[in-house]
Amino acid sequence: MCGIVGCAGSGDTVSNVLTGLENLEYRGYDSAGVALRNGSGIEICKRAGEISALQGTISQRLSSGSIAIGHTRWSTHGPPTDANAHPHTDCTGEVAVVHNGIIENHADLRTALEARGHEFTSDTDTEVVPHLLEEHLAAGRDLAGALRETLSVLDGSYALVVLADGEDALYAARRGSPLLLGVDDDRTFLASDAPAFLEYTDSVVVLEDGDVATVTADGYAVTDADGAPVERAVRSLDWTPEDARKEGYDHYMLKEIHEQPDAVRRAIRGRIDESTGEPTLAFPDGAFADVDRVQLVGCGTSYHAALYGAGLLAREGVDARAILASEYAETTPTLDDRTLVVGVTQSGETADTLGALRHASQRGARTLALTNVLGSTAARECDDALFIRAGPEIGVAASKTFSSQVVTLLLLAATVARDLTGDLSADSRAAVRALTALPDQLQAVIDDTDAGVIAERYARQEAYFFIGRGLAHPVALEGALKFKEISYEHAEGFPAGELKHGPLALVTAETPVFAVFSGRSDEKTLNNVQEVQARGAPVVAVTCEGNDAVLQQADEVLTVPDTHPDLVGVLSTVQLQLISYHVSDLLDRAIDKPRNLAKSVTVE
Ligand code: M6R
Repeated sequence: MCGIVGCAGSGDTVSNVLTGLENLEYRGYDSAGVALRNGSGIEICKRAGEISALQGTISQRLSSGSIAIGHTRWSTHGPPTDANAHPHTDCTGEVAVVHNGIIENHADLRTALEARGHEFTSDTDTEVVPHLLEEHLAAGRDLAGALRETLSVLDGSYALVVLADGEDALYAARRGSPLLLGVDDDRTFLASDAPAFLEYTDSVVVLEDGDVATVTADGYAVTDADGAPVERAVRSLDWTPEDARKEGYDHYMLKEIHEQPDAVRRAIRGRIDESTGEPTLAFPDGAFADVDRVQLVGCGTSYHAALYGAGLLAREGVDARAILASEYAETTPTLDDRTLVVGVTQSGETADTLGALRHASQRGARTLALTNVLGSTAARECDDALFIRAGPEIGVAASKTFSSQVVTLLLLAATVARDLTGDLSADSRAAVRALTALPDQLQAVIDDTDAGVIAERYARQEAYFFIGRGLAHPVALEGALKFKEISYEHAEGFPAGELKHGPLALVTAETPVFAVFSGRSDEKTLNNVQEVQARGAPVVAVTCEGNDAVLQQADEVLTVPDTHPDLVGVLSTVQLQLISYHVSDLLDRAIDKPRNLAKSVTVE
């Protein structure tokens, strides 16, 4: 995710800001920039690529200053280019702004600003902010007043820091995106994350939504949106910089599991019309009306999301199938210009998936990248791209990107089905509507889970099986993949009905079976549960609260809040992620970097 650092104070503030940006590198970024105020105005240096590329030019370009801001950008609006890197300025170059979050009404604001003569130099949503500030300053407002006027017209989320010519202070505001102050004797920091300044100070003030802060070398003042002073406590952090990067979690994977409510919130933000239950993805009306079939390709976790997506499409009557990317060319799928091939890939760089997409494209198919990384190869090479907005994932084991992929696929499936039939089925509409409650339900799973207790009970067994039917099948496969990759224990996933056709021979009292229930055809899966229980295997059911038949039959249960059957799998996956995590932790495995595995697999 994007990172913000600001510093007002003595010493070389540009170096402090650069160090802060380096300390935020773990969050992932694709471009970086710094602005400082010196005696003759604002100087800016920004680049696509790594901070080191910035450092190469910064010493020649920027003089030192006593007030500076910096940013690492994870692209959301516009590709990672020098022009799109932050800070962004107004037409006069007297104001520089860094921003985390998404300004949802940026398109309307930009149109109005351009009509009033403002010239934009980037594709970003952020750039409306300096131009709005410019107008209010020109109308005679001071900077604090101009900022308040500007904030009053912004929809969406932001952590904003403003540097202005002639000002000894930095101005900051927060709504929906974290922003902290770091308070030192002769300098004050602003940052999106404490590791940015922890090596200088451990005194932290956490800004709250609606806060506007003024920061100088001597301290800070916080007000509400109307300018009335508010008190925010100074806390002392006893974290090391490494602890802080993980925000107190023992592993990035656990942090990323806990980030799922926010990740899903971002994935659906602005993509649902809540009054009608219609998806509002940014495709023209009828964009998929001439699609005869959909093929979804991916590897590993992304393949499981693709299987889930194919299930959603198939239930809406669309001819859809998921194919492992590494097997795609061998399966000789039907390919023509009425075939939509969706490449599901977190990184957008997986060689097998890129190979499948290129194979499809060369044969005339239309391609769409469903990815987390703007500017990735898949996003650039495909005809269209749809971003899952999960933010950077550092743990090798995918967690939050799976849930973000599935909810984005649900919106895509509803869009394709609507374009093909001219309307959205009542069931699909209900599923889209149910998405809005999903972030809170994910939080409830995380808060109330018994996964830690169940993991203790079953941590040392011969093997582990995961079963599910329909949309619970990809969830079972994903549960087994997660389990084996981080625990190094033998785990397999099967369609529940397939057990009796072979795998049942492996089932004993030492092979716990995790049975995933989607809320559809549960009675059949219950039969399969009884089959394994008859062979002595303990069964851990993952099911909705209130599913009494399952709750009574299973030996252990991991429950999730009741929701539309299309979404139960997203909640169930979190329980299985937590089981894998806790078992692996008990076995003292290298959870964030499992042996033999890489985050991005760029060879076929
Ligand atoms: O970046 P991609 O989504 O294309 O990666 C595909 C797989 O390598 C990936 O999903 C992998 O299976 C997971 N990291 C496993 O947790």
